[in-house]
Amino acid sequence: MADLRTRYLGLELQSPLVASASPLTGSLDGLRKLEAAGAGAVVLPSLFEEELAEEGPRPGAGHGDQAGYGAGPAAYLSLLEQAKQTLSIPVVASLNGTSRGGWVRHAARLEQAGADALELNIYYVSSRPGLSGGEVEGNYLDVVREVRRAIGIPLAVKLSPYFSSLANLAGQLVEAGANGLVLFNRFYQPDIDIETMEVQPALELSSSAELRLPLRWIAILHRRWGISLAASTGVHTAEDVVKVLLAGADVAMMTSALLANGPDHLRPVELGLRDWMDRHRHERIEQLRGRLSQRSVPDPAAFERANYIKTLASRTPPSR
Ligand SMILES: Cc1cc2nc3c(=O)[nH]c(=O)nc-3n(C[C@H](O)[C@H](O)[C@H](O)COP(=O)(O)O)c2cc1C
Repeated sequence: MADLRTRYLGLELQSPLVASASPLTGSLDGLRKLEAAGAGAVVLPSLFEEELAEEGPRPGAGHGDQAGYGAGPAAYLSLLEQAKQTLSIPVVASLNGTSRGGWVRHAARLEQAGADALELNIYYVSSRPGLSGGEVEGNYLDVVREVRRAIGIPLAVKLSPYFSSLANLAGQLVEAGANGLVLFNRFYQPDIDIETMEVQPALELSSSAELRLPLRWIAILHRRWGISLAASTGVHTAEDVVKVLLAGADVAMMTSALLANGPDHLRPVELGLRDWMDRHRHERIEQLRGRLSQRSVPDPAAFERANYIKTLASRTPPSR
């Protein structure tokens, strides 16, 4: 039987299937179900900078034993402590912020509450024409340095794909103290209701078609700087998991697939991964990881601009 063990952020995981931050990981019940279904690790929902700046939870925020999304730091720490007492898989806490400031000291509280690692999600939509890309990136690096200084546990930075030179930024994040990158966060794009003439928040789940973006960047960044890489966005099936491992990911993270199908969705995905490994005679994840990374393929340009014109030309219009 294939051995699914993997290392992520220096932690030993029994499986590369990780439940990324979502309402499912925001309750002890959800976390238990995810562990029972085979999650190798769980990432709690984010504690937001905005919650940490305020005194306690915002009115009406949070419900039941749901600790995330505005329930405040006390509920968050309590969930984290309970998760650590109850689960035997690693528990990653998550902070979401954009600026340097007092909120960063909460990172240390998450470490004290037992978090095995911290994921820092920097979710920043830059809309000021006067602010250069360099300044935005400088801000990211400042936040990472501050969080790094506050904790001793491994730190992963969760990024959006919207940078003009991602490989450069990734290297700088590593210098600033990141031990791993989560590629990628998904920005929720507001929609417009043309009847009510209102801007509406829109949250759509991903599909496997969105896997290509993390796939490319994991393949490009694999084995640089010796950091961990997590694939996030578009991992739904066992095939998706195999792809991101071949590209060089240490773990495959899932949120949309688990929200749509429930925690037990991890079971068929694990079975499918085992089946693929058996058919391809791989006994350990290490044997397949990065086999199709940019460094390993005969044509490294395939992950860059190459084949662009050919790909476009292959899309012929339907004949009538
Ligand atoms: C309802 C919902 C809540 C989420 N909450 C968080 C969060 O608190 N922190 C975070 O870093 N990412 C959060 N995410 C992003 C997911 O962790 C994940 O990165 C993203 O959905 C892309 O992965 P997927 O294609 O598997 O859904 C959330 C996503 C959804 C759909």
